Amino acid sequence: MQHNDIVIRPARNIVGAVRLPGDKSISHRCAMLGALAEGATRLRNFSTGADCASTLGALQSLGVAIRLVEGAVEIEGSPWRAPRASLDCGNSGSTMRMLSGILAGQPFTSELTGDESLSRRPMARVIEPLTRMGARIEAAAGGRPPLRIAGHGLQAIDYRLPVASAQVKTAILFATLFARGTTTIEEPVRTRDHGELALQAFGAELARDGNRVTIAGGQKLHAIDAAIPGDISSAAFFFCAAALFPGSNLLLDSVLMNPTRAALLDVLIGMGCRISVVKLEEHHGELVGSVAVEGVELKGTTIAGALSAALIDELPVLAAIAPYTSAGIEIRDARELRVKESDRIAAVAANLRAMGASVEEREDGLRVPGNQQLHGAEVDSAGDHRIAMAFAVAALRATGDTLIHGAGAAQISYPEFFTTLESLVER
Ligand code: S3P
Repeated sequence: MQHNDIVIRPARNIVGAVRLPGDKSISHRCAMLGALAEGATRLRNFSTGADCASTLGALQSLGVAIRLVEGAVEIEGSPWRAPRASLDCGNSGSTMRMLSGILAGQPFTSELTGDESLSRRPMARVIEPLTRMGARIEAAAGGRPPLRIAGHGLQAIDYRLPVASAQVKTAILFATLFARGTTTIEEPVRTRDHGELALQAFGAELARDGNRVTIAGGQKLHAIDAAIPGDISSAAFFFCAAALFPGSNLLLDSVLMNPTRAALLDVLIGMGCRISVVKLEEHHGELVGSVAVEGVELKGTTIAGALSAALIDELPVLAAIAPYTSAGIEIRDARELRVKESDRIAAVAANLRAMGASVEEREDGLRVPGNQQLHGAEVDSAGDHRIAMAFAVAALRATGDTLIHGAGAAQISYPEFFTTLESLVER
C-alpha cells in the first residue's frame, strides 16, 4: 500500500451533520473576476481543492495580489502583467479554459500548461470561439495543451456552442469584458450558470432568454465580499452514501442549491430517497440551503439527454451505487465523461467489475444492472478525484475491505473528503 492509497471498510449507516468547503466552479469564477474588478474582493469559504489553488497561483503569476486573511481569500483587482514563466494549471481544465478567455484580451502573450491528464484534454472547444473573437492561440497537435495565447483587442461574436460546456461558455463570457460589441452565446442544453451569476454579482449586466445569453462588451466590474456556498458536487458523495443505507440520517448545511446543479436531488428522490431542503436563501444570485437525507431501499433510473449534462460531475458516483439499487441505472448521452480528468466511463466500468459487478459499457455511457452485491477489491482512481470518491462510496456497502489506489487524487476538489466521510460512518 502506498501513501496515496486508502482502505475503506464496510459501513452500517451514515449519520451526522457537515458543512462543506466552497463550490469549486464558483470559487474559480469569483477568483478570476475578483482579479479584474476594481477594489479588493473577499471570498469566504473558498474551495480548499488543489484545482482552485491552481487558479490562485496563475493569478499571482499574472501580478495579482492575493492574501489569506482570517481564512478568507482576499484578491486585489488590478491590471494583469505578462507572466515571467508559463502558467501551471495543474489538473484543472476550468483554470485553463476559463483563464484563456481573459488572457485572449490582454496586451501580452502567455503560455498555459497542465499535468499529464490536463495535457490530454481537448482545448479546440475554447480556441475556436476565442479565435473568432480575434485571439491568436497556438496549441499542441489535436488542439491539446500547452496553449500559447497572444492577447489582442477582441470583437463580439454570435456563437452556438457545439458541445454543452459551461467552461467554454464562461471563457467566452469572460472574453467579452475585453471585446467591442454585443455577444450572444447559445447552448445546446442548459449548463451551470455560475459564469452569468458571478458576472452579475460583480456588477456586469447581461440578458438571458432560455439557453441564450446576451452581453455587451467592455463592462467594468467592482469587488464583492461573498461566502462561497458548499460544493454540491462534493456533497453528492455523502448524499449517495447516505442513500445506500436505510436508517441513514445526514444533514448538510449551506450547500449550493443552484437549479442548474441540484438535479441529483431530484434523481435521488425519484429513486425513493427522502430528502428535504430547509433554510433556502439567495446569496449573490446563488441559492443556498441545508439538505437532510434519509436512506431507503433505492429503485433504479435512466439518465439521458439534458439530464446527463446537468449531472455530468455526479454520474460516476451514481454509477458506483447503481448495483445496490433494485432496477439498476442506465446512463446515456454522456460521451463527455470520456474526456474528463480520466475516461470516467472506462474507469467506472473497470472498478465496478473489479468489485464483482456486471456492467455494460457503451460509447456514451453505461448500464449497470441492479440487485448486485459488490465485494471488496483493489480499485484504481485513474488519478481522478471523482473516481476515487465514487468508489469510497461504493465500498461502504461492499462485503470486505476495498483498497483504492491513488485515493490522494481527492485533494483536487476535496482534500478533507476521507476524514469527513469517516466522521459520518457508523460501523
Ligand atoms: C465546470 C463545468 C463542467 C464540469 C467541471 C466544472 C465548470 O465541465 O465537468 O467539473 O465549472 O464550468 P465542462 O464545461 O467541460 O462540461
